Amino acid sequence: MNRAPATINSYDERDVMSGFVRGLKCRLCGTTYGKEPLNFCTEDFGPLEVDYDYDAIRQNVSRDLLERRPDTMWRFREFLPIDGEPAVGAQVGGTPLIKADRLAEALGVDKLWIKNDAVNFPTLSFKDRVVSVALSKAKEFGFETVGCASTGNLANSVAANSAAAGLTSYIFIPADLEATKILGTSIYGAKVIGVRGTYDEVNRLCTQVAFKYNWGFVNINLRPFYAEGSKSVGFEIAQQLGWRVPQHIVVPMAGGSLIGKIPKAFDELARVGLIDDATCKVYGAQPAGCSPISTAVKNGWDSHRPVRKPNTIAKSLAIGDPADGYFAIKLIRESGGWAEDVTDDEIADAMVLLGRTEGIFAETAGGVTVAVARKLIEQGRIPRNEEIVLCITGNGLKTQDAVVDRLEAPTIIRPSLEEFSPLVAETPAAVV
Ligand SMILES: Cc1ncc(COP(=O)(O)O)c(C=O)c1O
Ligand SMILES: [Zn+2]
Repeated sequence: MNRAPATINSYDERDVMSGFVRGLKCRLCGTTYGKEPLNFCTEDFGPLEVDYDYDAIRQNVSRDLLERRPDTMWRFREFLPIDGEPAVGAQVGGTPLIKADRLAEALGVDKLWIKNDAVNFPTLSFKDRVVSVALSKAKEFGFETVGCASTGNLANSVAANSAAAGLTSYIFIPADLEATKILGTSIYGAKVIGVRGTYDEVNRLCTQVAFKYNWGFVNINLRPFYAEGSKSVGFEIAQQLGWRVPQHIVVPMAGGSLIGKIPKAFDELARVGLIDDATCKVYGAQPAGCSPISTAVKNGWDSHRPVRKPNTIAKSLAIGDPADGYFAIKLIRESGGWAEDVTDDEIADAMVLLGRTEGIFAETAGGVTVAVARKLIEQGRIPRNEEIVLCITGNGLKTQDAVVDRLEAPTIIRPSLEEFSPLVAETPAAVV
């Protein structure tokens, strides 16, 4: 069944966003669909994915062309599924790739980089990437009301970007989310619905709402387009390394989408000739209190077993039944990588370590990534002398409670040099 005739528009610099998308395609059976707000195959309920004309992309991109463009995710627009200029999130992406020598020393490795999406614009997580694609697409489809099911960061991003784009947004979250993530959603005027239940229960409700009201839910009926935004993390890493990929990359996992899209980005760059080799071992990171994907990888299972009641300080990763779990397990295994999970204590320790070595305050998901990297290095699964990139995906200002007990309170004194001077001798050298 091919419901969408593959019309590929012509392309040149005057018409830069005409698009190279043929339509949607089922990841299980290959059935093709048109560009429509639909996330599952009507034949077998398999997830749909955007289908590109890579030959046409190859003829229209070059390293020079992409590098001349502003340093945002839209530099890679030929690989993103929108038809015009982005209506939402024109400034998103272009985050730093940092050579993390002090953290490398602490972890006992030679070559380490951090892709720092804790400073993504506007809501300080990589979710701004997926949301800018999804909401640009929502506008193309004519949706005036949008929404999402979220573990926090997506909530912030959909609310902020909807406000800026003049869209009405309904945001559904588990009611027990961190207060900062709730406030960082309400501030933008979104209608926030706290559901007494797990993320998976929130998600099920949202599926019903999306279809009953015909709203554009970024991670439900707009999911095939939304998920493509995560590829921009991979495009940027490859370009920032000088048009090549690292040997190892560690990625936090919740729904299991981001971890699939980074190697997909590497493969696409190789396919159109922008890099020579896309070979990279991919490692998945989860909290021990919700680790369906890493548990499946470690046990050699083909698909995950859902975690009914997640229990972790890394609430942004607390998805018990990940939509892309099956594909994440498969790609981790096929890449030659691995997956691990870490306890709440290890997560908080790693957040502190990252702050003290690199001056980066990452949220709990970042603690998961750093702690898992540490574990994999200690296990010998990631060799100490090879190139490693860690994906830091969210900002620590949103999850301060996770570390508050670990940090020394300020020393309080009167405004007098006599009271200050004795403290100087006591101050320990920088702790690592
Ligand atoms: C900070 C952060 N990192 C990583 C992820 C995982 O992304 P995915 O659901 O694509 O696996 C999330 C998801 O909510 C997140 O909020
Ligand atoms: Zn199918």
